[in-house]
Amino acid sequence: KKEKFMKVNYFSRIGFILAVSGSAIGLGNIWKFPYMVGEMGGSAFVLVYLLTVALIGISLLIAEMVIGNYSRSDSITSFEKISRNNKTAWKFVGFSSFSGLLILTFYSVVIGWIFYYIIKSLTQNLSVSLTTSEEMFSGFLQNDILSQMFFHLISVLLICAIVYKGIKKGIETTNLLMMPLLFIIFLGLLFYSISLPTFGKAWHFLFDYDFAKIDSNTLLMAVGHSFFTLSIGMGAILTYSASSAKETNIFKDAVLVAFLDTAIALIAGLVIFTFLFGFTDKAAKGPGLVFISLPTAFAAMGAMGTLIAIFFFIALSFAAITSAISILEPSIKIATERYKIGRKKAIMIFGAIVYIIGLMALLSNSKDFSQILTFGSKNLFDWLDYLTTAILLPIGGIAISIFLGYFVPKEVLRNQLSRSMSTKVFDIWYFSIKFIAPIGVIFILLNESGLLG
Ligand code: PHE
Repeated sequence: KKEKFMKVNYFSRIGFILAVSGSAIGLGNIWKFPYMVGEMGGSAFVLVYLLTVALIGISLLIAEMVIGNYSRSDSITSFEKISRNNKTAWKFVGFSSFSGLLILTFYSVVIGWIFYYIIKSLTQNLSVSLTTSEEMFSGFLQNDILSQMFFHLISVLLICAIVYKGIKKGIETTNLLMMPLLFIIFLGLLFYSISLPTFGKAWHFLFDYDFAKIDSNTLLMAVGHSFFTLSIGMGAILTYSASSAKETNIFKDAVLVAFLDTAIALIAGLVIFTFLFGFTDKAAKGPGLVFISLPTAFAAMGAMGTLIAIFFFIALSFAAITSAISILEPSIKIATERYKIGRKKAIMIFGAIVYIIGLMALLSNSKDFSQILTFGSKNLFDWLDYLTTAILLPIGGIAISIFLGYFVPKEVLRNQLSRSMSTKVFDIWYFSIKFIAPIGVIFILLNESGLLG
């Protein structure tokens, strides 16, 4: 009976690694990372990002994995279960999982855009001209509300359908299929870029460090992004780890996932900038990089470009879908296991919430509704991204590190991690969780709130 339970509810070893990588590798790597590098002047940003992934990111990845693997529960119950003296107030950290619903709102809108671009590539509708390309993107966002609503609806329905099928049949199967294809497509794109003359230029853009360019803003953005890209701070990794085999090698898996996540971000950066430098003369910066500039490069490549565009947007959709399901699952696990709500009902309730707020985020980009959906300096879409990435995820991360560093007996953690870490590595990790991660993140938040001037 137990065996059957495990078959239905637990990840296989490779399934777990691909699911966690699938969560980590997403819009953050392929859509956000390249445009942030572009905006922050290239290599300086890359350097800080790599350092934060190594110093804080991996530690927090391990932290979420160890909590989930140990408690084997939904995120709220996890914090309750393993806190010292059962201080149940910690369960409130678990509520951070619901910030996933907010991430999913704008995430599902962007997935809708990607579907639209897959169709545009298939029908060879990408343009060489930057002006036309820009018109296509902004026309879609600002005026073509109905098409956008259609693709957004498909996106939300697909995400809900996969999560509805559960850990094994839904989430694991999707990752087993999509992640290897994603890796193959990106390796193919990388090899093709290497053969192009502008590859060297892209390489220098990403890797020639200019320390003078590192200012506090670069630091801030890079640290925030390292949380987002590694899926840290809302219990996504924790929730997946609750369904991993008890004997999972946490340290090895965390390092592998961080490596794969970074590799895909760097490969995406190299590929995109090789194409941009080679086939366009003026690159649109910002969120439009992948949807405005890159399509002009594809169009300029001729027939080969059409093929590459199709593969690129399909791979991007895979990356985003495998992340999106990991953003929804924590809330569903809480609803079904802690509050005993049926899976179908839970999906319908949370799916509806995500759909409605997502719809408003979508409308906030449109001409007709932007005015009533803009608050202060940002519209709703940008607020949702900012609120979650810059504020909620870092707060979740900090809570997790303080929890493990100060409210869970060290011996318990040492026991849990002894299988995968030597004492020395454990001590380094523990130091990072107790001091580096909280101090680093508090610094970022203070800086963001403007208190540091
Ligand atoms: N890591 C995902 C990305 O890079 C986003 C994500 C954030 C997923 C938080 C889960 C939790 O796109």
